[in-house]
Amino acid sequence: MGTRIEGLGVYLPSEVLTNFDLEKMVDTSDEWITQRTGIKERRIARSESVVDMATAAAEEAIRNAGVNKEEIELVVLATLSPELGFPATACLVQERLGLPPSAMAFDVSAACSGFLYALDVADAYLKSGKKKLALIIGAEKLSSIVDWSDRSTCVLFGDGAGAAVVRFDENSESDVLASKLYAKGSEWRALYRENCGYLKMEGRKVFKEAVNGMAQASLEALREAGLRPEDVDLVVPHQANLRIIKAVAERLGIPMEKVFVNVDRYGNTSAASIPIALYEALKEGKLRRGMTVLLTAMGGGLTWGAMVLRY
Ligand code: COA
Repeated sequence: MGTRIEGLGVYLPSEVLTNFDLEKMVDTSDEWITQRTGIKERRIARSESVVDMATAAAEEAIRNAGVNKEEIELVVLATLSPELGFPATACLVQERLGLPPSAMAFDVSAACSGFLYALDVADAYLKSGKKKLALIIGAEKLSSIVDWSDRSTCVLFGDGAGAAVVRFDENSESDVLASKLYAKGSEWRALYRENCGYLKMEGRKVFKEAVNGMAQASLEALREAGLRPEDVDLVVPHQANLRIIKAVAERLGIPMEKVFVNVDRYGNTSAASIPIALYEALKEGKLRRGMTVLLTAMGGGLTWGAMVLRY
């Protein structure tokens, strides 16, 4: 009996922006970006809006889950690049999907931790019995809020969307076993965007907070689940920077073979990064039913956390 991810979906824009392309735009190099971040290329949404990407990812997740749209009672969309000031991007996606008004729809603003926050909210609604089937989405058009003349940030981010259909199932072995989510508002200045302005970041500070926060939250979530790091079959971390991911894995004592990485291909897609990674891990056969999976993220807020799933 538990909360089960029934289906996953993604949308990735077809346009690829490589480090070599960036060399022509700002004073940077493929070597610098690769060494400091592990990123080789990212996707850029030229014609697609964040709603287009979120809707496409959601449609695939719904198809893969094999559910009827009418059954969806809750839509939680995580983004830091919403379509409008208001209403919530979730409502625009609800319209595009043709979901009935019986579905509640809202956004969560927790930056790169957004998908974990959304999954935790959905899990709580499902476990309380108030809702039976939820659609959670992480969708970002970060190319629209990045300063393309600032080499310290523009090389890091990319666009995309990922979605999951989540159900409470009486007969399921799958479940969210533990979640530990945090926020430290006193440090919001380390990573933020002024109204209609560009994303601003203190890179070194965020780096340290990410390694410490993700490692600590992971250990706490595992403890809550009654598990040890060696019990984890697969880690799906937020894909911000390969050095952060490796440092977190090292602190946990989990070998990199058990850690899913695709930051090289997409850069940091913020709230979309974990669902895109889950989707690709599933496609590649690295994520299988019954596995113990650790999710962990850190982002603006500052927000961070970790969740342990039995997939
Ligand atoms: N290309 C070339 N040089 C660059 C550069 C780029 N794209 N960006 C910055 N530099 C330069 C800096 O100007 C600085 O030069 P200086 O020594 O002459 O002043 C030098 O590289 C070192 O900069 P620094 O910011 O100290 O580098 P770093 O090792 O901390 O790496 C980040 C920078 C951004 C890659 C790293 O701090 C990081 O990944 N932070 C976390 C970011 C993140 O993941 N944020 C989202 C979290 S959800």
